[in-house]
Amino acid sequence: MRKLFALREQDRNEEMLGKVVRVPVSNYTSTEIFDREMEKVFRTHPLVAGHVSSLREPGSYLLSDWNRLPYVIVRDKEGRLRGFLNQCRHRGARLVSGEEKQLKAFVCPFHNWVYDLDGTLRSITREYNFPGLDRREYGLKELPVAEAGGLVWIHPTAEADLDLAAYLGPMLDDLVDFQVDGLVRYRKSKVIKQANWKMLIKTYLEGYHVPYLHRTTLSKMFRKGVLAHTEHGPHIRMIAARSNIEEARGSDPETWRILEYASVYYVLFPNTFFIMHPDYVSINIFHPEGPDRTIWTHEMLYREPDFPGERGEAGLAKRFEFTNDAVFDQEDFAVAENVQLGLVHGANEFHTLGLEEGLLAIFQGSVDDRLT
Ligand code: FES
Ligand SMILES: [Fe+2]
Repeated sequence: MRKLFALREQDRNEEMLGKVVRVPVSNYTSTEIFDREMEKVFRTHPLVAGHVSSLREPGSYLLSDWNRLPYVIVRDKEGRLRGFLNQCRHRGARLVSGEEKQLKAFVCPFHNWVYDLDGTLRSITREYNFPGLDRREYGLKELPVAEAGGLVWIHPTAEADLDLAAYLGPMLDDLVDFQVDGLVRYRKSKVIKQANWKMLIKTYLEGYHVPYLHRTTLSKMFRKGVLAHTEHGPHIRMIAARSNIEEARGSDPETWRILEYASVYYVLFPNTFFIMHPDYVSINIFHPEGPDRTIWTHEMLYREPDFPGERGEAGLAKRFEFTNDAVFDQEDFAVAENVQLGLVHGANEFHTLGLEEGLLAIFQGSVDDRLT
């Protein structure tokens, strides 16, 4: 809050890097860079799978939204979270389609092999076909999963250590303090965007565009909406002052509650953008499919007592429509897609980032550091 007040006095966002930076546009088009990102960034970092509210009961499950990593996470009968590749060990058919309400076991639709929720192969149909096959060698391929800060995380590499406290540091403390685990899901959407995954994330990383691109939508909520940030490793926390922050200036700092006067945003590296608004939360995940193609999922969450009954339902619908459709889809990502489309014409070999756009360069730097 103090940092935001100081910035408002200068009428500027934080300068971030303190210099102008150029980012080559090949970062958004090169298949060679894309392949290295998949190997050195996406294979080697924990990824957010979603909010824990869809995984509370034994048998409840969460499917991957990403074709490059088709996993299923399930709460097993003992209440533990387990993550598996969603593929049968016989001839690789997809086990869970998403139609299932709850899982009692994994039953393959192809030849009906059955696996327990802990991944062990329970039965083989017409077993005389497989003389000498040791079932213990045919358990589902397991991936490390864990719950932290109300989010479920998965590591794409089986042997990896999932130490989320070290990975997230103070970002995790925030998720715990904000009681993210107590939220419930309102809705989740999944859309393909014709833009590079970093291009989409970067639309969130500066406030410079807000008065212009969001002139008729967000701008009135963020009048003089200065932006400040902190970092932990490759993760970024951004805080944007809302129009009402002036009301807090004279009051006792002990009574300040940041979410009454600001929205708080997190880049949870590499591909999640997590948003705490005063009355709802958005988890945006960007799943790269190719240099110019990304699956975007948006899960909107809320605190149940804040939206009771029919009026609550209408309020949530309005917020989802506003934030998902009007702001993200029709403003931010529409620009990202037209910038992406224009890259082939070669007007710009690089994008030039001003002082208030430094977070884009910081994020790009975190990716670049891992590609070498
Ligand atoms: S592929 Fe699953 S039982 Fe054959
Ligand atoms: Fe925006």
